[in-house]
Amino acid sequence: MCGILGYTGNHQASEILLSGLAKLEYRGYDSAGIAVLENGNIKVVKNKGRLQALEAKIQGEDVTGTCGIGHTRWATHGVPSDTNAHPLWSDDMSVVAVHNGIVENYREIKNTLSGYGYRFYSQTDTEAAVKLIDYYYKQENDPLKALTRAIREIEGSYCFVLLFHDRPGEVWGARKDLPLIAGQGEDEAFLASDVSAILQYTKQVYYLDNMEIVQLKGGLVRFFDTEGYAKPKELSEVTWDAQSAEKGGFDHFMMKEIHEQARAVKDTFGAVYHSGKIDLTEINLTDEAISKLSQIYIIACGSAYHVAAVAQYVIEDLSGIPVRIELASEFRYRNMPLDENALAVIISQSGETADSLAAMRKAHEHGIKTLGIINVVGSTIAREADSVFYTMAGPEISVATTKAYSAQLIACYVIAIQLAKVRGKLDDARYEALITEIQKLPEKIDEILDEAGVLKRIAARFVNARNAFYLGRNIDYAVAMEGSLKMKEISYLHSEAIAAGEMKHGPISLIEKGMLVAGVMTQKNLYQKIASNMLEAKSRGGYIFIVSPRGCDVLKDEADFVFHIPETDEHFTASLAVIPLQLMGYYVAVARKLDVDKPRNLAKSVTVE
Ligand code: AGP
Ligand code: GLU
Repeated sequence: MCGILGYTGNHQASEILLSGLAKLEYRGYDSAGIAVLENGNIKVVKNKGRLQALEAKIQGEDVTGTCGIGHTRWATHGVPSDTNAHPLWSDDMSVVAVHNGIVENYREIKNTLSGYGYRFYSQTDTEAAVKLIDYYYKQENDPLKALTRAIREIEGSYCFVLLFHDRPGEVWGARKDLPLIAGQGEDEAFLASDVSAILQYTKQVYYLDNMEIVQLKGGLVRFFDTEGYAKPKELSEVTWDAQSAEKGGFDHFMMKEIHEQARAVKDTFGAVYHSGKIDLTEINLTDEAISKLSQIYIIACGSAYHVAAVAQYVIEDLSGIPVRIELASEFRYRNMPLDENALAVIISQSGETADSLAAMRKAHEHGIKTLGIINVVGSTIAREADSVFYTMAGPEISVATTKAYSAQLIACYVIAIQLAKVRGKLDDARYEALITEIQKLPEKIDEILDEAGVLKRIAARFVNARNAFYLGRNIDYAVAMEGSLKMKEISYLHSEAIAAGEMKHGPISLIEKGMLVAGVMTQKNLYQKIASNMLEAKSRGGYIFIVSPRGCDVLKDEADFVFHIPETDEHFTASLAVIPLQLMGYYVAVARKLDVDKPRNLAKSVTVE
């Protein structure tokens, strides 16, 4: 959930750590800190609040040194405070560490260590682990041995990056279930939660396996298993460039990423479309595998779950294969009969979401093959899934997802078309027609963006609003869920998505004069149904905002505002209808002067349960 960094080389560590943390701040931002090792002393500077506050504090401190670690926190144990901020240290400052994750048995560890004279100054779970490592370090005088012994006792999920006061030029790390990559530069080496933090220095990275220990020393990177044996590992080259993690002239990453959607859609489709055909053999969806499929489970969290909700309609309608969608956090604890001939599709931008990872592992335990639809190359879900469909959205920095969502939709459409084709549900002409429609989506997305100004004006009406409803049926309900989440997560305007037919079963009692009631209306056979629900809202004072295709004049006189999207095949309307809803959320948040890219209480990758 947090951003974590390590550096050793010839440059001043504090500068590299601060620039890297700025790239990782989207992962957690309630506190920040760094530690630098120089001449046997470890100097720590940290505070509650954003990185800016840390930068200001560092101005007045001596943080000379070419070896250090850094952290941006998303608190799980203990309030955000200067004391609880990372790095945390052992009593004599001989071991200093940053941590991402949760040490589940921190109470037991604290009790044991208290018996040996250790005292605890913070409320964090992390401090227990740091002191346990310190305890073993004092016995072994060897970081590797201390780490292997401590790791055997630490329960939970973690990624640690550490300095040992008498190990000049060395940074150590260990991971279980949480991301950590190592970067190899010229005479320098890095550890980071994700590649965006080090892209400007190197594109040569190692992906750590689960339960691995890593050492940076003398500009080199070495790996060990939990028994302490050295492990060989291959370098990979990252294809993302450093600019893709910059704002590029936009006020916020979210707006930049909204504008990158056409490209994300095009690239994601282009990755699997060759010589006039969709080719999914690389992700093991061969004709033979498809013909054996009896059921598909799509499992995800948040917006990725909203993609699953769209995919359910599209895949079932086109291919006839039953699809069941599951929230990963529910699926992992559910005792349901699972079909061994099913395919479990896990959708995740980060590839690190704890619930999605656990759900995938559960599917594996039941002998079910898994396919990850993942954006971050080398992420844990990507590495553990039986096969991976990489979305080509590029680095997504804004906490509120937009371009990854759009790219995930494309992956699902492509899978749906291929399943339908192999199952004999599509003739060649229909197959071609669907593909042509997908190819036209990027330009239609850009057409919508050209009209963003009008949405900015509408959004201004809702600066002081307290509640909103998003209504839809079928695919439009799935889009409404995403539109509603976009609104609530960044603008803090309470909003609910409702399957339009459910309005009259309760939620309608909440409608007040002027309340935003957005209706997504893209499925011809349901126009009149949703229109009736919208009129019921209007009669009770709601402000009726409609998203519908050009040429649809339903509610044109009754609605307060109609936003027309270009026409497309009805299976793909989510890709267009979501755009004005993303913009509405964005503009309301901007009008409220909120921190769009880093909404309160949230973090980009939810690596805790
Ligand atoms: C989206 O705007 C959210 N911030 C969030 O719901 C997100 O989609 C969810 O946490 C899943 O993340 P993932 O795609 O990285 O697994
Ligand atoms: N559990 C630790 C804490 O609350 C680490 C949280 C994080 O991953 O940022 O300090």
